[in-house]
Amino acid sequence: MTDKTKHDAAWESAWGDLRARVAACEKCGLCQTRTNTVFGQGNVYSPLVFVGEGPGAEEDEKGLAFVGEAGRLLTKILSSGDIDRENAFIANVVKCRPPENRNPLPEEMLACGDWLEAQLLLLRPKILVCLGAVAAKWILKTTEGITSLRGRWFDWRGIWVFAMFHPSYLLRNDSRSKGSPKELTWHDVRDLKKRLDSID
Ligand code: URA
Ligand code: SF4
Repeated sequence: MTDKTKHDAAWESAWGDLRARVAACEKCGLCQTRTNTVFGQGNVYSPLVFVGEGPGAEEDEKGLAFVGEAGRLLTKILSSGDIDRENAFIANVVKCRPPENRNPLPEEMLACGDWLEAQLLLLRPKILVCLGAVAAKWILKTTEGITSLRGRWFDWRGIWVFAMFHPSYLLRNDSRSKGSPKELTWHDVRDLKKRLDSID
């Protein structure tokens, strides 16, 4: 899945420039309460990109995406489907932590969406996985809920888009009984792996 070919100098320069612009960004009010921007991290050659909602407390502190409790669960979920998260790139819809982990406001997502879009243009993934309702609704421009979006494949600008429950949601909904979010996610990660293997 890693398909390592070197990016050219123009790519590296555009990526570095984007990273610097995000680090200095003051396009929305979230810049006032952040400790660090969270650009996202992982394998920039990967066909697989995950998009979450926004940084939590630990992410804000470390400047890295999905490194708190939800992130640890994400790592476990993916490895249960034989997907190594280090081989994917992981980012968020908003790059600065919303206070008290509230959902990002529409104007914050609008302001920050340009950064995500620029990242996706450079990363050119084959599969984009939306983690949770905020990312899924933002990418797919729908008001449909995550319960109906998850486990389905969509075409978005020639990229396969898949939606899954957010790991924080799974932390709050711990049941593993048939039809529970955790059990459905177990199926979703297998479906994701199958698609990933088919595009390699
Ligand atoms: N939740 C998210 O949506 N993103 C993170 O980076 C961490 C928790
Ligand atoms: Fe800029 Fe995004 Fe942070 Fe708002 S959330 S200040 S748009 S980087």
